[in-house]
Amino acid sequence: MSAYKRIRNILFKFDPEIIHSITETLLQKASSLSLVQEILIKNFCYESEKLHNNICGLNFYNPVGLAAGFDKNATLIQGMGALGFGFLEIGSVTKNAQKGNPKPRLFRHVEEESIQNAMGFNNQGSQKIASRLAKSYPFVLPIGINLGKNKSIPIEDTLKNYEEVLKDFLSLGDYYVFNLSSPNTPNLRDLQNTTFVGELFLMAREYTSKPLFLKISPDMPIDSLLEVCQKAIDSGGSGIIATNTTIDYSLVCSPKNIGGISGGALRNKSAEIFKELAKVFFDKTILISAGGIDSGEEAYKRIKMGASLVQVYTGLIFKGPCLCKNINHEIEELLNKDGFLSLKEAIGVDLK
Ligand SMILES: Cc1cc2nc3c(=O)[nH]c(=O)nc-3n(C[C@H](O)[C@H](O)[C@H](O)COP(=O)(O)O)c2cc1C
Repeated sequence: MSAYKRIRNILFKFDPEIIHSITETLLQKASSLSLVQEILIKNFCYESEKLHNNICGLNFYNPVGLAAGFDKNATLIQGMGALGFGFLEIGSVTKNAQKGNPKPRLFRHVEEESIQNAMGFNNQGSQKIASRLAKSYPFVLPIGINLGKNKSIPIEDTLKNYEEVLKDFLSLGDYYVFNLSSPNTPNLRDLQNTTFVGELFLMAREYTSKPLFLKISPDMPIDSLLEVCQKAIDSGGSGIIATNTTIDYSLVCSPKNIGGISGGALRNKSAEIFKELAKVFFDKTILISAGGIDSGEEAYKRIKMGASLVQVYTGLIFKGPCLCKNINHEIEELLNKDGFLSLKEAIGVDLK
């Protein structure tokens, strides 16, 4: 049994949200000490020139990013940076601070290596988070800001709400993500329609030339999904992040009746959606894959399917802090095995 699995057996005896807060505090404290930071970097980062890539004008030293939701308040930039990620996405951040949904709202499905969450965009609000981020930005890794809608804002005022949160980050962050796909904010997913998405991206383009992404749900019918993605791209979007969590509760054996499922149970669904997306949009826009990625093999599969970058969240809970290092090491081995000189050569090969 690996050392992390032994620790995990103890951690999993406690409430997941409490464990997340303790991890956050420890990582924050540890990474503020430069000696500890150096030790973390030495043990958890993996460097290979083969994995470098420039996407949308940003330099990525490896393709594995931290998915949104783990570092909602930008408190872990240094800490997660030292765990070997190629880029970090903070948020979802909303204009006003909000507490999120009542607890309990985070559950483990250990058998399926999955999480079910109904967090509901708990975060400290854009102004506080922006002023915190300003202290570590620009950072050595690209930082994305994932933007969400406040629950209390009526649906007809959503565009303004997104405009306001975006404005607070205009001098911060390397790319922005519009999250319309969380299942935990009432009616948010209904905004995944061509009219709203068109307005949203045109609005954002008036403010920034930085890369803009749309993060999509895995639960939408594929034809409407493709139309919405096309609209985002036509309206100035730089790419698509696929996918957020799923509300298909048949994927786990003991589901709760709230929230979205991530991790192992989401893997095939997310990969299927990504495949359909890549058939249409590969080479036309940037595609980022998320959903059940917890190994180099799975990450490499998505890269060959057309992902320029991948993101992980749940894998980190089940596989531990060596996850990025292991994924990157394995990707490099697979590139070598297939005779590719760099990651760039492998992106989308399965579509060619
Ligand atoms: C506890 C939790 C909170 C999340 N919060 C957010 C969020 O605030 N914004 C967002 O866009 N995605 C959020 N996600 C979704 C992840 O970013 C990711 O898209 C999804 O979990 C699939 O990746 P995974 O299977 O590697 O976890 C959250 C996921 C989890 C497990």
